[in-house]
Amino acid sequence: MCGIVGYIGDKKATPILINGLSCLEYRGYDSAGIAVIENNEICVMKDKGRVANLKSLSGIDELTSTIGIAHTRWATHGKPSQENSHPHMDNSNQFAVVHNGIIENYNELRNFLTQKGYFFLSQTDTEVIPNLIHYYYTNGVPTIEDRFLWAVKTAVDDLRGSYAIEVVCKLYPDKLIVVRKDSPLVIGKGSYENFVASDIPAILPYTKNFYLLDDCEYAVISNDSIQFYDSSLTTHDKPIKNIKWDANATEKNGFEDYMLKEIYEQPNSIRETVGTRLKLDEKCSFDELSFTKEYLSNINKIYIVACGTAMHAGLVGKNALESLCRIPTEVDIASEFRYRNPIIDEKTLCIYISQSGETADTIAALKLSKKKGAKTLAISNVLGSSITREADYTIYTHAGPEIAVASTKAYTSQVVLLVMIAMYFAEVLESSSKDTINKLKTSILELPSKIETVLKENDKIKELAKKIYKEHDIYFLGRGTDYPVAMEGSLKLKEISYIHSEAYAAGELKHGPIALIENNITVIGILTDPNLMEKSISNLQEVVARGAKTFVITNQKITDSNFDCMINIPTIDSLISPILSIIPLQLLAYYISKNKGLDVDKPRNLAKSVTVE
Ligand code: M6R
Repeated sequence: MCGIVGYIGDKKATPILINGLSCLEYRGYDSAGIAVIENNEICVMKDKGRVANLKSLSGIDELTSTIGIAHTRWATHGKPSQENSHPHMDNSNQFAVVHNGIIENYNELRNFLTQKGYFFLSQTDTEVIPNLIHYYYTNGVPTIEDRFLWAVKTAVDDLRGSYAIEVVCKLYPDKLIVVRKDSPLVIGKGSYENFVASDIPAILPYTKNFYLLDDCEYAVISNDSIQFYDSSLTTHDKPIKNIKWDANATEKNGFEDYMLKEIYEQPNSIRETVGTRLKLDEKCSFDELSFTKEYLSNINKIYIVACGTAMHAGLVGKNALESLCRIPTEVDIASEFRYRNPIIDEKTLCIYISQSGETADTIAALKLSKKKGAKTLAISNVLGSSITREADYTIYTHAGPEIAVASTKAYTSQVVLLVMIAMYFAEVLESSSKDTINKLKTSILELPSKIETVLKENDKIKELAKKIYKEHDIYFLGRGTDYPVAMEGSLKLKEISYIHSEAYAAGELKHGPIALIENNITVIGILTDPNLMEKSISNLQEVVARGAKTFVITNQKITDSNFDCMINIPTIDSLISPILSIIPLQLLAYYISKNKGLDVDKPRNLAKSVTVE
């Protein structure tokens, strides 16, 4: 995926565009560029590398234009290079375009345009768009007065795939045109200025009033107006949304990296997720859901479908749903689920989890289950994201903007939300005792202060990171609810430290993985479930006996152990202990990455959400 920004108003566009791009670098960071209309000509400045590199290009500070578009790229077609960076222009340098998404039929369109005499300077799919617009602008017969808008719309009609597109034309220095399909785009309304971005944080410092563009909807934006059109270019009005986020939410606020800030935000993000949904001695309330006892008792199966960290949250949620509601629950990786012809009917409930709400596989899986008649429930952190538009029901995590590529606070919010959904179902179904539910409610309300206690282990974890950051392989072991934590800890480590890592269910060790254990190998055990404690300790002793260095996260008093280091965390109901036990592992991955001198927030090859298959 890529990030796009746009500005039109009475201020210099370049600093606003560049600030916006810096906020969107989590979406891609292999090249960046801007196009502004300067003295009636389009001026494009772009290069491979990060936004900081773009900012240092000679002459960029002298640009005075008050209209512009900008892009930060995560390469799909064509390697990161100056030529492949956006914006792209048509051959006559009249139109400039930035694009997030993939044009699936770009080869066909490229051939068509080549036959018409157009040439291409890049290997991107995007470059067909400005040329196609130019082709229709100069050759077509517009059916409306606005020739620019008509040419954009006629070109877009030829595109197959996903796109969020911004276009400027040197002949129209007072407007920019945007359109989207299956890629996000928001428009921020200011006073005598308007903004465009792939995601709200990029323009949050300037406005809290936003329009969320719908699929196949166009907007023609000037200083003082935003006009919306549907795909047949009929105009319509649209409600504006006011976002409550603090502009500081997108700053580092004194933390060295967004990831560390987001780890430390977890007491508060959990408070926000719990919100008013849960009160002691009252039933859990989800105004978003209207599930009756009859509907819930007829559910034959729940599928939780997601990718990466969100899928790990689903594994924790499965435990809660099965234990509190006794409904069979399966967790699936979205990219597998969508192609394996899953058994789904109208008695199936499918829960889709996505922080960004834009993950291509998760959205495709949701569409598939809807087609098969299942009810769909989306859990997302991003207001109005694609997944929330597709699902029958949506529950927001309200964790606040998550900027670091490695997900931390979104994960813990997803877990607590899933457990609360399980409690809500259990209350409707009367499938668990009031005592069980009340104890769990108390535990959830205690989470923020217990997370604060875990965060106090920061220095100990920092020291541990110093000892092990040079390792080549690190293994994670856990049983029961500790197993998904092992998986999530291992994923966190590999994505930001590039250390090879695997997570195993501790009981599986003897079925193969123990062959990997040799002298001095690092094994991290998560031991929080009192019922499984003895078995997990035995598994860890087996690796100690084979020379492994063992580090243990536990909420139990383990005496007489020969583990190398123990991080103690508070005890809590085991259904939500993954929320506490993941925090030392998030910190460990963070400090290992820092010790290795890596870019924690923007790890290599990764983007914050994966909008392509
Ligand atoms: O936005 P999503 O929650 O749908 O993203 C899913 C995964 O791509 C994401 O969780 C990924 O695994 C993270 N980088 C993990 O830190």
